[in-house]
Amino acid sequence: MKKILTALLILSALLALAACQEEPQAEPTEAPAAEVESPTEAPPTEEPPPTEEPTAVPELTEEPMEEPTEAPMEEPTEEPMEETAEEPAAEMVASQSGLGDPLYPLLGNAGYDVQHYTIDLEAEPQGNTIAATTTIDAQATQALDSFNLDFAGLEISEITVDGETAEFSRDGQELTVTPATAIADGAAFTTAVTYSGVPEPIVDPGVPFTAIGWLRFLDEDIISVISEPSGAMSWFPNNNHQLDKATYTMRITVPEPYVVAANGELAETVDNGDTTTYVWEMDDLMASYLATVNIGAFERDDTIGPDGILLRNYYPAGRIDEFAPAFEPTAEMIEFFSSILGPYPYDVYGAVVLPVDGDFALETQTLSVFPQSAVDEMTIAHELMHQWLGNSLSPATWQDIWLNEGFSAYFPFLWDEHVNGPEANLLPAMGAYYEFVAGAQVPPPATVGLDNLFAEPIYVRGPLTLHALRLVVGDEVFFDIMGTYYERFAGGTASTADFIDVAAELGGEDARELLNAWLYEAEVPPFPETE
Ligand code: TRP
Ligand code: ZN
Repeated sequence: MKKILTALLILSALLALAACQEEPQAEPTEAPAAEVESPTEAPPTEEPPPTEEPTAVPELTEEPMEEPTEAPMEEPTEEPMEETAEEPAAEMVASQSGLGDPLYPLLGNAGYDVQHYTIDLEAEPQGNTIAATTTIDAQATQALDSFNLDFAGLEISEITVDGETAEFSRDGQELTVTPATAIADGAAFTTAVTYSGVPEPIVDPGVPFTAIGWLRFLDEDIISVISEPSGAMSWFPNNNHQLDKATYTMRITVPEPYVVAANGELAETVDNGDTTTYVWEMDDLMASYLATVNIGAFERDDTIGPDGILLRNYYPAGRIDEFAPAFEPTAEMIEFFSSILGPYPYDVYGAVVLPVDGDFALETQTLSVFPQSAVDEMTIAHELMHQWLGNSLSPATWQDIWLNEGFSAYFPFLWDEHVNGPEANLLPAMGAYYEFVAGAQVPPPATVGLDNLFAEPIYVRGPLTLHALRLVVGDEVFFDIMGTYYERFAGGTASTADFIDVAAELGGEDARELLNAWLYEAEVPPFPETE
């Protein structure tokens, strides 16, 4: 029943889109707090996308303290240094202030490799103030007189490197640290940054539908961190690019009776009297944009999934019965996706449901964030799939984002095909997607800019590209390509070229040609004929 509704919704949204009859959404929010201004930028001017794309987000009810921080887009000015990326595109030039991402040249920093973040943070949710020390264990990949971190807003009181007070300066999101003693190439070093204040949401042109980072929802009395792509720098200093993943310990202290849900495993809960410290350990590598902290009145629901994976979901207090049934298929979905790609990459999974409305969800590692109105089977499958593709295997640059979203938009249809057969939703949806993509001449996925990073080229032409590949190479080769691609790059990053190479290796040069046309050419290729 729900499936039919989903299919109908998808189809009708597509038809409405194609006919340009749907009104652009007036406001990306459903529950604005009247009294305060939102840092969320003007809503997207384009029509809402047909599916999965996060179109509506809860408007922040917080008053921005100052101008929201813009993620600056200028080219890095520093002299280029040696590249540290494992799979840099030819044009990527890393520097002290950036890793050469074509869309976000200032995200990340060259010269060191972070191993572990320890974030010791006390939050006062009423005033939304934080006081924190983030300790960064890193290894120098070159000799360093100084190095950069990405960090926006907040006030820094002290930085030490290996216990000695360091000098520092700030310029926008670039924090330059000059240790008392220079760091030798290859040396391990520990940087501790102590800071406080009210975190400012980041306004990132890649996600015009929402502010990102540390967000407070005043009316619901919750805080949630949703950062993709650049928001992590709003609450802790870090090397803000997926080319440098690390493990995490988060020690988050909140007043009673707030509950904290974050990535990984809850190692310890310390009762300090008036406050509680929640110690969360993320033992597997994680990109900073996937770190999340959620503070509010949450109630936890544990079950055991396949292979002993702990499934721990956090629901708004008192509402477990309302949400738990929707998440029940999670265990079976894990088995199904594992059968295609390989074992689920982490020890735990779950969702945190926020008592706010919005159509987006975010695949924060091991703990996806869902607004209450986005809890539906396709979105649950979508965010789960991201744990393999997006989180374990991350895109080498933000321009490769279709490797996250195209796959995570297609795989829920594979799940649906597994449950209901191909005729129920997969084939009608792909037919409708093709009509839409051809009719609207949706641009190719692999050349997107900041203006369509999370838009139709990615969410509609992306999954259609995979479906076209499947039709041409056949199911056996297609699923072999999926599994081989994942196995080869799991735990790290891959570029679009890496994926195409795997497809050509297993599917032949026809597969390469097809992918080049779908991914790079403006013209929409014909829908592949089968049989
Ligand atoms: N990755 C999200 C998805 O699965 C989309 C997204 C990107 C997002 N940036 C975001 C959602 C910021 C919420 C907030 O579709
Ligand atoms: Zn997604």
